Amino acid sequence: MLMTNRRFLRLITLVLAGTLVISLLGCTPSHPMSTFDTVGPVARSQAILFYVIFWVGLVVFIAVEAAIIYAAVRYRRRKDQGDPEQIHGNNKLEIAWTIVPVIILAIVAIPTIITIFDNANSPKTPEEGGLLVEAIGHQWWFEFRYPESGVVTANELHIPVGEVVNLNLASIDVIHSFWIPKIAGKVDMIPGVGNTIWIQADEPGEFYGQCAEFCGVAHANMRFKVIAKPKAQFEQWLQDQAVAALESSDPLVIEGYDIFMSRRVLCFRCHTIDGPGIARGTIGPNLTHFASRDTFIGSIMDNTQENLLRWLTDPGDVKEGNIMARDAEVYNGTLPSLTESQISALAAYLRSLK
Ligand code: CUA
Repeated sequence: MLMTNRRFLRLITLVLAGTLVISLLGCTPSHPMSTFDTVGPVARSQAILFYVIFWVGLVVFIAVEAAIIYAAVRYRRRKDQGDPEQIHGNNKLEIAWTIVPVIILAIVAIPTIITIFDNANSPKTPEEGGLLVEAIGHQWWFEFRYPESGVVTANELHIPVGEVVNLNLASIDVIHSFWIPKIAGKVDMIPGVGNTIWIQADEPGEFYGQCAEFCGVAHANMRFKVIAKPKAQFEQWLQDQAVAALESSDPLVIEGYDIFMSRRVLCFRCHTIDGPGIARGTIGPNLTHFASRDTFIGSIMDNTQENLLRWLTDPGDVKEGNIMARDAEVYNGTLPSLTESQISALAAYLRSLK
């Protein structure tokens, strides 16, 4: 049976109202991914630009809708009315509706161009002594390199508060997009093509980042965190990260290290651990100070013992499509699976990497 007009209208109204409510919920500044509660000059300039364009657009929308409604009501067809007067063209009107939009667009273009150049030109480039970080997109996690100190980390971008941070964006596989809603808008990370942005956080805290370009099955699980802290604390963090992994005498940790390096497990082939040994792989995240990170697996999980055991037991179940579940021989069936005791030894080793 066909849906009656009234039922169809009611359904449409319901869908539109639902969409509106969901969209408006996204505008709440208290949301961790809100672009309205900005904490840095780049995001702030983008939010201001948004408001300028929004209000100009709203005025145009109201004027156009009002004109349409006025014309439809005022000039509606009445009873016993013949054809209206037939006219062709109106020079004054046509010139007006060409010139007015040009003026409006020119007004919008001025702040747009200023913002684009402000955001593209770092106020303190690496040549001028600004901090440089290389951010590299991988399917599906973010790598961060601090070239001056040689520190390499994953999923958590530590920055000093109130300082300009210059980012070189790259990708090793497909196009990703770098986005920290409260600090800076999206910039693509394109393989083979360098892109740069600068960011600055005005207050200490943790701010969410997210890949904003569809990049495959785990795109939604490709997140990161920006950890902004006072400069002294940041320098301390950098120093701690720059040293090699600590060696432990705990037998379980040593057993875990041996498994990590074993040719029957092959973790070392994809991961780097600075220190003794030959773990210099670059396919997966650098794990030198794995235990110092709050989150892991593309920042989708807290870095706890329980989550680590889950991950090491069945990475494909925790994060669908991930490369380790697909390519690591102990997970894809080429080599025997890890036993429970191997997994707890590996977890002990990884959790010792402070
Ligand atoms: Cu990377 Cu989406």
